[in-house]
Amino acid sequence: AAEAGAVAAIVYNNEPGPLNGTLGDADSAVIPTGGISQEDAQALIDADGQDITVELRQLQEERTTYNLIAETTTGRDDNVVMAGAHLDGVTDGPGINDNGTGSAALLETALQLGGSPDVNNKVRFAWWSAEEFGLVGSTHYVNSLSQEQQLDIAMYLNFDMIGSPNAAYFTLDGDDSEGEGAGAGPYGSAQIEKAFEDSLAERGIEAEGSDFSGRSDYGEFIAYGIPAGGLFTGAEDIKTEEQAAKWGGTAGEAYDPCYHTPCDNLGNVDYDALDINADAMAQVTAQYALSTEDVNH
Ligand code: PHE
Ligand code: ZN
Ligand code: ZN
Ligand code: ZN
Repeated sequence: AAEAGAVAAIVYNNEPGPLNGTLGDADSAVIPTGGISQEDAQALIDADGQDITVELRQLQEERTTYNLIAETTTGRDDNVVMAGAHLDGVTDGPGINDNGTGSAALLETALQLGGSPDVNNKVRFAWWSAEEFGLVGSTHYVNSLSQEQQLDIAMYLNFDMIGSPNAAYFTLDGDDSEGEGAGAGPYGSAQIEKAFEDSLAERGIEAEGSDFSGRSDYGEFIAYGIPAGGLFTGAEDIKTEEQAAKWGGTAGEAYDPCYHTPCDNLGNVDYDALDINADAMAQVTAQYALSTEDVNH
């Protein structure tokens, strides 16, 4: 077996039948190269006449990751309010705004709510693993549930980047009235967007919608028709003049110029934006813990 980090040749068999002599019946095989070049490896294998493609690759490391899930002992378990934030970051940087902000505020919300609050609906918090590697943790979670357990989730609230240094105030666009019109969320998502808008409005903020682009952990929830919403202060996109006029910050610059880079450190947080969004997160989560009637009818 080849070791992670080593350069290995991936050998693809372009013909039906066993792969090049000793490599057996597989369609492809991974073999350590011992420093030989791609051309030399291809030449060696071509020499035996089989139609084979050789590709040299740095082998990826394989890791096991874990979601962390915690829920109240109280409240209906057939009408669960889920709230989630990804706990991992990219390997290129410390991941403070993306997504230390969302996961820290979610932890504070959970601690303030406590384990057995007097609520009608169970609240289930999720700190997702491996979002940056393709929404791996949240996708695995939703797929690991039975259909009945999926139907027991009343909604999913997502918090990914909520303290961007040149902050926008976005709510996930459940009614598809803003953004590029990438499609509203599932039925009920418009009401969730309104709840976040109202909460931000109470704090003097006029929010804008942000498309369900598929770029965060709500992806698998909306794929199963679970109503969703959430908060987001922007990533690599550029703040407009109108947005700078109503929210402050700098027009013509990214909402988060340090997005996915080494400077996404503790200096990369607008603490006013984080404070406002953390409050809205707590308020909306608590509101739905008491009643989801506007979403479920
Ligand atoms: N999910 C993205 C990330 O973690 C952030 C993002 C969300 C960017 C939504 C654009 C839109 O990197
Ligand atoms: Zn990210
Ligand atoms: Zn993120
Ligand atoms: Zn909207």
